[in-house]
Amino acid sequence: MINWLSSKLDRISKLDSYLKPEKVEQSIKLDSNENFALDSQYIMKMASRAVTHTDLREYPLEQYEEFYSQLSSYTGIDARYLGVGNGSDQIIELLLSIFGKGQEATVFTPTFSYFINRCELHGIKLNKVPLNRDNGLPEVEFLKHAAQSDIVYICSPNNPTGNQFPETQILKIIEQLKEKLVLIDEAYVEFGNYSLAKQIANYDNLIILRTLRVD
Ligand SMILES: Cc1ncc(COP(=O)(O)O)c(C=O)c1O
Repeated sequence: MINWLSSKLDRISKLDSYLKPEKVEQSIKLDSNENFALDSQYIMKMASRAVTHTDLREYPLEQYEEFYSQLSSYTGIDARYLGVGNGSDQIIELLLSIFGKGQEATVFTPTFSYFINRCELHGIKLNKVPLNRDNGLPEVEFLKHAAQSDIVYICSPNNPTGNQFPETQILKIIEQLKEKLVLIDEAYVEFGNYSLAKQIANYDNLIILRTLRVD
């Protein structure tokens, strides 16, 4: 086999493989973005209604602008700052595809494992900064590594610890990393105290990820 391909396949085969989310009985599990607040029959009804309003033979062009306008009113963010993907996993993947070997990312740990795995897949060097014992952010250490990196990932609130760092602390970090791509993953922001989405117009280097929840 071609050399570069076999060495790439060899490296990839050593990465952690995908773990299917577990089903845990008698507990409310949220770490894979599950939403048990909604009745399953209600979701089923909504999904079938959506299908009957769409002609599945073509791209839903008519609904495109309406969708952005609804998202804009839900988030309070001007539609020109919004971009939609096939889940935030896909957006992470697309973003990382513009980085590669020789480039670096900084994360604190523990955090959302998908981001870490995808960096490893793309050959992006990872600087992992362990959280403090109280799950707080070791700011000086984090900034030291982030300043050497190309991309910085902050999950807020964090999966799996569930906490959110003070808003002023994250803003200070964004402010000090104006030359880096700062990715704030707000998949669980509905459980948090604040969203940084309102800052999106103030920083060129800031991307906020949200996931869709139906309510
Ligand atoms: C922190 C975090 N970000 C992103 C995702 C993925 O979200 P999506 O379903 O939009 O791809 C998850 C799902 O578990 C998550 O926990």
